[in-house]
Amino acid sequence: MDHFQYKSGKLYAEDVALADIAAQVGTPFYCYSTATLTRHYQLFTEALSPLPHLVCFAIKSLSNVAVLKTLGNLGAGMDVVSGGEYLRAKAAGVPGDRIVFSGVGKTRQEMHLALTGGIRQFNIESEPEMRVLSEVAHGLGMVAPITIRVNPDVDAKTHEKISTGKKGDKFGIPISRAREVYAEAATLPGLKVVGIDVHIGSQLTALEPFEAAYLKVAELTHALRADGHTIERLDLGGGLGIPYTRDNNAPPLPMDYGALIKRTVGDLGCEIEIEPGRLISGNAGILVSEVIYVKNGEDRDFLIVDAAMNDLIRPAMYGSHHDIIALNEPAAGAEQQPYDIVGPICESGDTFAKARNLPALQAGDLIALRSAGAYGAVMSSEYNSRPLVPEVLVHGDHFAVIRARPTFDEMLSRDTIPEWL
Ligand code: LLP
Repeated sequence: MDHFQYKSGKLYAEDVALADIAAQVGTPFYCYSTATLTRHYQLFTEALSPLPHLVCFAIKSLSNVAVLKTLGNLGAGMDVVSGGEYLRAKAAGVPGDRIVFSGVGKTRQEMHLALTGGIRQFNIESEPEMRVLSEVAHGLGMVAPITIRVNPDVDAKTHEKISTGKKGDKFGIPISRAREVYAEAATLPGLKVVGIDVHIGSQLTALEPFEAAYLKVAELTHALRADGHTIERLDLGGGLGIPYTRDNNAPPLPMDYGALIKRTVGDLGCEIEIEPGRLISGNAGILVSEVIYVKNGEDRDFLIVDAAMNDLIRPAMYGSHHDIIALNEPAAGAEQQPYDIVGPICESGDTFAKARNLPALQAGDLIALRSAGAYGAVMSSEYNSRPLVPEVLVHGDHFAVIRARPTFDEMLSRDTIPEWL
């Protein structure tokens, strides 16, 4: 369930007609629903209760500060993977003790930033990184709380580009070497071990891979405690998949995922952290676009729309599916026809969907690409010198532009001409 529904034939975000936003903001634009973000966050907190827990929103999926503040105000923690994301979390008012720092290549500057600004823990991904963090923290007269991300060698059975927990992936340290690495961590003066971290991939549509990974983490918890380490937190990563289509193949619900966590690691007396991104933000956002032309090709009809692969790259990059619907609800039983829905960019890959059935549309009609809240705006670029699209947040019957569309002047003013020209 999300809060993008038809009312009297018009698509709404909560209680705001999307066509009204389009009239004020122009197209294309991203639109997010506060109610959906809130509900999805709360599904996780409910699923993990009564275990002590912190749901850390994976900022990489949707990083607008207004969205982070919406979640932060509910008590959410944040999972960050760069100095920029750390600063976004802070700008949203999230205290350092609710921010975890993940990522395979943290720099000294990023470590310094988070140590001095406040951090709940670093999730360490390699031995060199662990040694550098100890050095940086020690140099500041501080001790950095850490977990070590273990790679459990589990097949997440998801798209190869977003699977992270198999042997040979660049993430974490092999779980078989964990005891050795924890032993070294315990000797480093700038570090304090607080737990274990694992994350096996994104858009997982079954619970079995999580189960296999979490059972290995439970076993490791016992072994590390026997070695004398304090394991008081388990960061179980993100990755629970979302429905991208409205059929009956929905991935497991957060409630089932929570039950699995309780079953596998619930009796270890640890505080549980999770890092969901997509499940909170994915179906809380849509991309609204206008049809520029309807082009009748030789064997197919194209809807050439004003959004493009630079605004939403997922179909081009992963071959991913986004439902596409018209803002004007088709009448019941209205005839549909197949369209290829494409953007204006000079690449064949700039195709959102092929042979997608829609009611007959004309230039000027508005469409929405659904499930675009996660990894949509954050992965956009200015390719073809197209300004980044604005972001809008709806709350009940009102909305606010939470990132304005840059003007062409703003875009051009970032380039500078060297004096020899
Ligand atoms: N934690 C870590 C360490 C991660 O690497 C990720 C995602 C998450 C949490 C959040 O995963 P989620 O709950 O959102 O599945 N751009 C791709 C997805 C990349 C995911 C990267 N890591 C896409 O558009 O499908």
